[in-house]
Amino acid sequence: MSERLEDIAVQMVAGGRGLLAADESTSTIKKRFDTINLESTETSRRDYREMLFRSDEAMKKYISGVILFEETLFQKAADGTPFVDIIRAAGSIPGIKVDTGAKPMAKFPGETITEGLDGLGERLAKYYEAGARFAKWRGVIAISSSLPTRGSVRANAQALARYAALCQEAKIVPIVEPECLMDGKPGDHNIDRCAEVTESTLRMVFEELAEARVSLEGMILKPNMVIDGKNARKASVSEVAERTVQVLKRTVPSAVPGIAFLSGGQTTEEATAHLSAINGHDLPWLVTFSYGRALQDSALKAWNGKPENVAAGQREFTHRAEMNSLAATGNWKKDLEKAA
Ligand code: 13P
Repeated sequence: MSERLEDIAVQMVAGGRGLLAADESTSTIKKRFDTINLESTETSRRDYREMLFRSDEAMKKYISGVILFEETLFQKAADGTPFVDIIRAAGSIPGIKVDTGAKPMAKFPGETITEGLDGLGERLAKYYEAGARFAKWRGVIAISSSLPTRGSVRANAQALARYAALCQEAKIVPIVEPECLMDGKPGDHNIDRCAEVTESTLRMVFEELAEARVSLEGMILKPNMVIDGKNARKASVSEVAERTVQVLKRTVPSAVPGIAFLSGGQTTEEATAHLSAINGHDLPWLVTFSYGRALQDSALKAWNGKPENVAAGQREFTHRAEMNSLAATGNWKKDLEKAA
């Protein structure tokens, strides 16, 4: 496998494959497990993720890479096989979430700054050694009538750029994720406001990436779609696609090889429909998914924490992965959901 950043970046987004975001932090996975009344322990987290990574068909055909939480990068399956080996054996690339979370930003009420830059160079060397070839850092941008502030967007864009530069020096492809929240509070903003915030955020992010000398050819952008807030949803699928493509074309240089969307709280089927409609447009980049909830929700429910449901969980995961793979080439249709 090539070790060039440019080649890894293309592999992450090409061929109708996309990324599985399985990098929920210990507190986030606890929230997910709470929905099925399962206690979050190192063993239950291992069992859940083993179910996903051993979904052979999904991993081989539809999943180009997996974003892991640090614990999982170094974790082994029940039979002692390192997860990294299972992922690689399926022809998929292991990746790692390296930020340490979005923390309240001093003097900016209601906004956060993502932490994790201190000592990041040394951590990246350790992750590379363990097999990670790409990384993720998520900056969170709140949307309301008065937010975000310029100061908070600037600070998050600078942190993303510092992170991306450190990754590239460590031979790791950075996924740059500035997420303008759909499901934040109050969540009543409309699609116009989301478009305005997403456009100015992406502009600032690419300004900072340039200042930090980040090579655009060796990175992947993970943006939100342009969509109404969670409590004010009304735009149609085609409108979400059009507005998203318009904002991305205005702000994302074509030197960036690929864009992999987050699902951000959309339902599983919405996230698929939107991605497929976006890919119906003529685009200068490869555009795919890097979904967490939209790939996992139905699988988690079907598994329900029980060993006898592993096959059912894997069927659900494989189905969503296949549907999103079709969407990554613009070929998903609603009746394919029913057929399954
Ligand atoms: P969702 O697709 O659930 O938004 O998660 C993707 C992700 O990695 C957010 O950082």
